Amino acid sequence: MLSQNSDKWISWLLGVAVSVQFLNVALCEEPSKLQRKLTTSLNPGCGDYCENNTTITLVHIAATSDTDTIHYVWDFTGKPTILVALTSKEAELRIDWPRLMDAKAGSANFTEVPQYTFMAIINRIFQYDDANDRAMLDDNTNVFVYDPHNFTWNRSLLWSNEEDAMMAINAGDDFLFKLNAYSTKDHGMDFPHLLHTSNSTQIDIVFNNITNRFANPRFAIEMLFVVSEQTVVGSEFEVTKRKTLDDQHTPGIFEIVDVLSPGAFTFSAGGYIEYRPVSYTHPERDVATSTETRQSQPVTVQSPTAALQTTLAYALYGTKLDSFLVQGMNVSFGVSEDGFYRKTNYTTMTFQVGYGMPPVEELSAFVLIVAGIGIGVPLVVLLASIIYVCARKLRNQDRFQQQRL
Ligand SMILES: *[C@@H]1O[C@H](CO)[C@@H](O)[C@H](O)[C@H]1NC(C)=O
Ligand SMILES: *[C@@H]1O[C@H](CO)[C@@H](O)[C@H](O)[C@H]1NC(C)=O
Ligand SMILES: *[C@@H]1O[C@H](CO)[C@@H](O)[C@H](O)[C@H]1NC(C)=O
Ligand SMILES: *[C@@H]1O[C@H](CO)[C@@H](O)[C@H](O)[C@H]1NC(C)=O
Ligand SMILES: *[C@@H]1O[C@H](CO)[C@@H](O)[C@H](O)[C@H]1NC(C)=O
Ligand SMILES: *[C@@H]1O[C@H](CO)[C@@H](O)[C@H](O)[C@H]1NC(C)=O
Ligand SMILES: *[C@@H]1O[C@H](CO)[C@@H](O)[C@H](O)[C@H]1NC(C)=O
Ligand SMILES: *[C@@H]1O[C@H](CO)[C@@H](O)[C@H](O)[C@H]1NC(C)=O
Ligand SMILES: *[C@@H]1O[C@H](CO)[C@@H](O)[C@H](O)[C@H]1NC(C)=O
Repeated sequence: MLSQNSDKWISWLLGVAVSVQFLNVALCEEPSKLQRKLTTSLNPGCGDYCENNTTITLVHIAATSDTDTIHYVWDFTGKPTILVALTSKEAELRIDWPRLMDAKAGSANFTEVPQYTFMAIINRIFQYDDANDRAMLDDNTNVFVYDPHNFTWNRSLLWSNEEDAMMAINAGDDFLFKLNAYSTKDHGMDFPHLLHTSNSTQIDIVFNNITNRFANPRFAIEMLFVVSEQTVVGSEFEVTKRKTLDDQHTPGIFEIVDVLSPGAFTFSAGGYIEYRPVSYTHPERDVATSTETRQSQPVTVQSPTAALQTTLAYALYGTKLDSFLVQGMNVSFGVSEDGFYRKTNYTTMTFQVGYGMPPVEELSAFVLIVAGIGIGVPLVVLLASIIYVCARKLRNQDRFQQQRL
């Protein structure tokens, strides 16, 4: 019994020690320390051909630290592709524009081989008929497929300085994309207020007032992931779900979904996608106007070279893609009994694409104080009662021994 108690004790004490540590971090750490310096360029090297043409968009952001550069590329010249590449500080991105516009292999290059590259591609968008209100795309046959390569992308805003970069781009009035890159660790401005670092870039998609093609329509997207890690049998992307104690940044949502490349979950050095499983159904984002998202298990894409023809991945790597790990998964928006897409004709998805490990949400000072009181007061009571019990036991033992003598 005593040893059971002491086990509990140790974990309580550990808890306290950890909270104090957290408190230290939460209260003392300077929140907005510049971690990387951003240099943003639109259609680098394109010249007159791209000038004044809002339908050609490839944004390159070099996020440079003291030791290396993470390159982010937001490419809308083919299927929307987000590239994250880790290189030395000297590496530059080179693009042969006429060949890139024809989606030729080798039309884009880094001046040195990157240490790591990760790409997330919006491969297809689905509108499907959810006749049984299951909110699952899986074996549904009543599906309308949008190929984002066929969209006319129109860039409406691009804004950047050393600390932030932001772009808004849309396909008609239907699909509205907003992208961000950051120099510091902080929460995003809009719901779901995802925690970002300078190692990640954020993509926010709105499915806005899209013509319903079915009686009970829902949307889903198919994302493909390409990593410059060799395919090894059994190496796969892993979907993990983290619970948070505290929902102050994303009310009502206590879960974070991480999709990690094998390198990310084995060495903390790989690509990841991160999001909260929430979709907002109104431009005024709130817990009352939210629904859920669901993802399928990542599966390997057969013959990547063929599947990725119209993407930046092919432009960079050509047929080498067949030796890379390429997987895909579907994310569907909505949950049973939420009234389908037609209820508001609006739904959103927000996710981050990054390098390393997704940042861990730190407990807020308020939660720590509450937890401190919650742990501290019972701890004092427990301590006092244990001292009391021990003292009595010792006294009784003394008496017992005295009696025996
Ligand atoms: C682009 O637009 C600016 C301002 O409207 C103009 O000065 C410039 O000549 C245009 N460039 C080309 C290549 O058309
Ligand atoms: C802009 O670029 C697109 C794609 O290359 C081309 O089809 C279009 O004609 C260009 N528009 C202008 C105004 O140059
Ligand atoms: C990419 O690299 C290859 C070989 O190093 C070179 O032949 C090719 O011209 C480069 N392409 C670009 C766009 O720089
Ligand atoms: C996209 O456009 C191509 C031709 O430009 C067409 O063959 C293909 O069917 C279109 N895909 C979709 C999904 O509309
Ligand atoms: C792009 O959007 C602007 C407004 O944001 C609009 O004036 C322009 O006509 C649009 N261009 C195309 C090609 O849709
Ligand atoms: C939605 O689209 C329809 C046409 O499909 C249009 O009449 C309506 O005004 C749009 N609603 C909003 C809120 O944009
Ligand atoms: C959503 O759009 C469809 C047409 O695509 C329309 O019939 C329906 O009334 C719209 N719903 C709302 C809430 O506006
Ligand atoms: C996504 O769903 C579609 C339609 O059900 C299916 O054909 C496709 O294989 C799925 N993609 C992935 C990567 O699971
Ligand atoms: C961010 O990227 C750097 C490489 O520049 C890496 O060393 C670091 O571990 C990454 N940070 C996180 C939190 O993964």
